[in-house]
Amino acid sequence: MLFSLAVLAGDGVGPEVTNEAIKVLLAVGRRFGHTFNLRYGLVGGVAIDGTGTALPQDTFKMCQECDAILLGAVGGPKWDDPKAKVRPEDGLLTLRKKLGLFANLRPVKVFPMLVDSTNLKPQVIDGVDFIFVRELTGGLYFGRPKKQWRTSRGRRAIDTLAYSEQEIERIIRVGFELARTRRKKLVSVDKANVLESSRLWRQVATEVSEDYPDVELEHMLVDACAMRLIQNPTYFDVLVICNMFGDILTDEASMLAGSMGMLPSASLAGVPQEGVNIFGLYEPIHGSAPRRAGLNMANPMATILSAAMMLRYSFGLIKEAQTIEAAVEEVLNEGYRTYDIMNEGKVKVGTKEMGDLIAGKVGG
Ligand code: IPM
Ligand code: MG
Repeated sequence: MLFSLAVLAGDGVGPEVTNEAIKVLLAVGRRFGHTFNLRYGLVGGVAIDGTGTALPQDTFKMCQECDAILLGAVGGPKWDDPKAKVRPEDGLLTLRKKLGLFANLRPVKVFPMLVDSTNLKPQVIDGVDFIFVRELTGGLYFGRPKKQWRTSRGRRAIDTLAYSEQEIERIIRVGFELARTRRKKLVSVDKANVLESSRLWRQVATEVSEDYPDVELEHMLVDACAMRLIQNPTYFDVLVICNMFGDILTDEASMLAGSMGMLPSASLAGVPQEGVNIFGLYEPIHGSAPRRAGLNMANPMATILSAAMMLRYSFGLIKEAQTIEAAVEEVLNEGYRTYDIMNEGKVKVGTKEMGDLIAGKVGG
């Protein structure tokens, strides 16, 4: 089959990790007889430097014309001035919003052979396997008004946390649909003891649950959830959460897996269901890691696993996705590690070598 793919490498280690994911995708193509038509575009800081905007028109148009997007990372100290008019992150936020990528899937899985690389006790994290469903195009990150201004008594700033019933319903459905394919346990995270938008969130979650009698729904306050993620992370199966809380808790949860370099993500424009291909953007959850850029150090596995998610959700290539996931596990089992997950007695490799090893296991 033929698929078209927009590649937005972005900043920092972005180009290095996307290169390795493409290497692995091309190996999948050769082995299973698929063609990936790759198109490249600018986003983030490199786009600001080149065109003055974080998401140039032609990048956006190209993304609309493709079946899926693979993104590296955006941002870096060069563009970090809080007074700057344009920010690399705007490119990513605009893409998500304009393409309707409301459902952000962030699986957190502890690979058994990496249990020693985390900061937590093995008995706490052994067997962790859950997935966050983060709402991505609403809530505090997009609400209006959003501004900073001067008053006679000093400066003020405002952000707005707003959700509509429809926005909540569709993301809750994604949570239930995923829970159905897993252990059938959905935790809906909110702050309903304080926030009005959370009270609506909780009501809608309860209403939608009537369509999913086979799935157990539990409401959990976000502060309690932050604690439980460290105290007893195997408790969780699927968590559905608003934009800002999801941003925070997914970084927290990534530490269970030992390194952010291991965790992929998918941002989807629809509710994932078997047999349906959904437009999506795929990116590692780590950032641009500017201090590691250009050093052939970064762990490409999060991006490679994101490519596997792309095969699964946007292209319907389940067997091919599993092949990549198995290849990653095999390479880890053989003892190869990038710097971020390095441990005694293991073999340290760079970004490119890790990509070669995984592509080699995929075959093709
Ligand atoms: C993430 C990132 C982004 C977000 C930033 C770069 C805008 O932190 O994907 O989690 O907050 O959504
Ligand atoms: Mg984040």
